[in-house]
Amino acid sequence: MKKNIVTIGGSNSKNSINKILVEYVGDLINDIELIKIDLNDFSMPQFSIDIENEEGFSEGLINLNERIDKADGFIISLAEHNGSYSVAFKNALDWLSRINGKVWRNKPVLLLATSPGERGGQTVLDIALGRFPYMGATIIGSMSFPSFFDNFKENEVVNTTLKLKLVELVKQFKKSL
Ligand SMILES: Cc1cc2nc3c(=O)[nH]c(=O)nc-3n(C[C@H](O)[C@H](O)[C@H](O)COP(=O)(O)O)c2cc1C
Repeated sequence: MKKNIVTIGGSNSKNSINKILVEYVGDLINDIELIKIDLNDFSMPQFSIDIENEEGFSEGLINLNERIDKADGFIISLAEHNGSYSVAFKNALDWLSRINGKVWRNKPVLLLATSPGERGGQTVLDIALGRFPYMGATIIGSMSFPSFFDNFKENEVVNTTLKLKLVELVKQFKKSL
């Protein structure tokens, strides 16, 4: 049976470059079932312990958690907002952690970040690399993809060095499944 790989763009932007990148990377892998998550499809309120106590978990959260339950591995690309997670991603992460602290289910995770800037989201990537292992992530590899609009054009990585690095990471990720 084919493995289920969940891709997550860590942003709620309709034109998210992280969603574009993560789905591009997912599509580089053959013989898997890709489950592409758009955070906009899973509605949940801003996390509040009071809402949790009074209303429980939203349908959107439960649906997202079900997708995660079915995953054999994750490819995640994080948007960087002021050096940290986007609000939409952090909100989903906090809610998910209330259902199961091992959000990433001890499964392989390929962790990416991109931004229009030269550091390509390296700061948020470092935060996630420090935190996700405590949330059940087996990190297989990571990469910040710099200057997105210079290096990614017409749905292709146009920088050969970056492309080779992504292909190598994907190879390692596939092996770990
Ligand atoms: C509130 C805000 C803060 C941002 N902070 C950063 C930052 O710290 N570092 C960075 O490289 N880009 C930053 N950016 C630019 C984002 O990287 C850019 O909007 C990118 O498109 C976000 O990813 P997305 O398209 O997947 O949502 C910021 C953008 C916004 C709206």
